[in-house]
Amino acid sequence: MGTRERRVSVKSDRSKLVKWDDLRMELILNCTQDLIKKAAKTLKAGHLVAFPTETVYGLGADATNEKAIGKIYSVKGRPIDHPLIVHISSINQLSKWAVNIPKYAFKLAEEFWPGPMTLILQRSALAEDFITGGQSNVGLRVPAQPIALALLSEFEKIGGSGIAAPSANRFGAVSPTTSNAVKSELENFLNDRDLILDGGLCLIGIESTIIDCTKVLPRVLRSGAITNEMIVTVSGLDESTNCDLSAIKAPGVLESHYSPKAKVVLDSIAKSGEGFIAMSDIPTPSGAIRLASPTTIQEYARDLYTALRLGDEKNLKKVIILLPQGEGLAVAIRDRATKAAAGK
Ligand code: TXA
Ligand code: MG
Repeated sequence: MGTRERRVSVKSDRSKLVKWDDLRMELILNCTQDLIKKAAKTLKAGHLVAFPTETVYGLGADATNEKAIGKIYSVKGRPIDHPLIVHISSINQLSKWAVNIPKYAFKLAEEFWPGPMTLILQRSALAEDFITGGQSNVGLRVPAQPIALALLSEFEKIGGSGIAAPSANRFGAVSPTTSNAVKSELENFLNDRDLILDGGLCLIGIESTIIDCTKVLPRVLRSGAITNEMIVTVSGLDESTNCDLSAIKAPGVLESHYSPKAKVVLDSIAKSGEGFIAMSDIPTPSGAIRLASPTTIQEYARDLYTALRLGDEKNLKKVIILLPQGEGLAVAIRDRATKAAAGK
């Protein structure tokens, strides 16, 4: 049986995203091609498959199967009116799921897909109410992680159209960035027909940038690795409209979210016995427990959720986060840390 199994070795194409250059690498993945095929069949049969993406792990189901989508909501404990992102294999699948796509959205998709960007577009008939929470818009993303892309293409080969996947955590909790984190988060809720695919640590570490593309101008609903500066360059975003979130529901922009069990406080000083997350050049306060020492802003994003989980594993009562300064990815890190701090 093992003879048909082979390791998948794929070089990620991030050439367009200059800012990630230090993360470009050849990935030798733990998933075999046979396992990916099995996962695609598992999805087609209406079960759940948690899979790695370059942002965070997703909890996937067939985006056209209402019953399977219902399982995502019950496993996550997520309110039913919170819409799901549909993951597709390439920009060629865009018009299956969306209509009246503005030119700037195509430009963004051409530039940043596959990648950590979700576009909110007017839905086609394929995107039913059980995906969109009853809204007339649908969120779409082509992930850049090779296992995710292989899964999407195997799923399409057997007649699938898209994989709906929220982050693979219980509602309101920290998104998982390793398969072990998915396991500890969801093992009591998944059943023996469901699968978790391992793809190692997620390279970006925080969720995709969400851009509302249903108006004349794009608006960022959730910051991420595709930064405002990158969006402005490609599409001409009017930053003054950026904060107007009133017209559309994006529950990811709730004030409290991404919360570990420990109380998170945004500060520069930690007391003895408290967790501490800060850039590596900041010394650890006496007696504090260092949870992450990123040397770059990319490492900060990649390590943030792992560090929060580590704090919980150590049963820490309080974790202090010293926020990174600056623009770009630092904006998304401050957003997630602020929401984690609002959670308790
Ligand atoms: O990086 C990511 O985006 C990850 C990976 C797995 O792709 N997914 C993710 O999904 O973060 P989720 O469901 O945890 O967060 C997506 C956010 C939610 O707040 C959801 O309400 C919002 O996007 N969203 C999804 N579809 C939407 C829509 N049609 N209109 C407005 N907001 C939408
Ligand atoms: Mg989430």
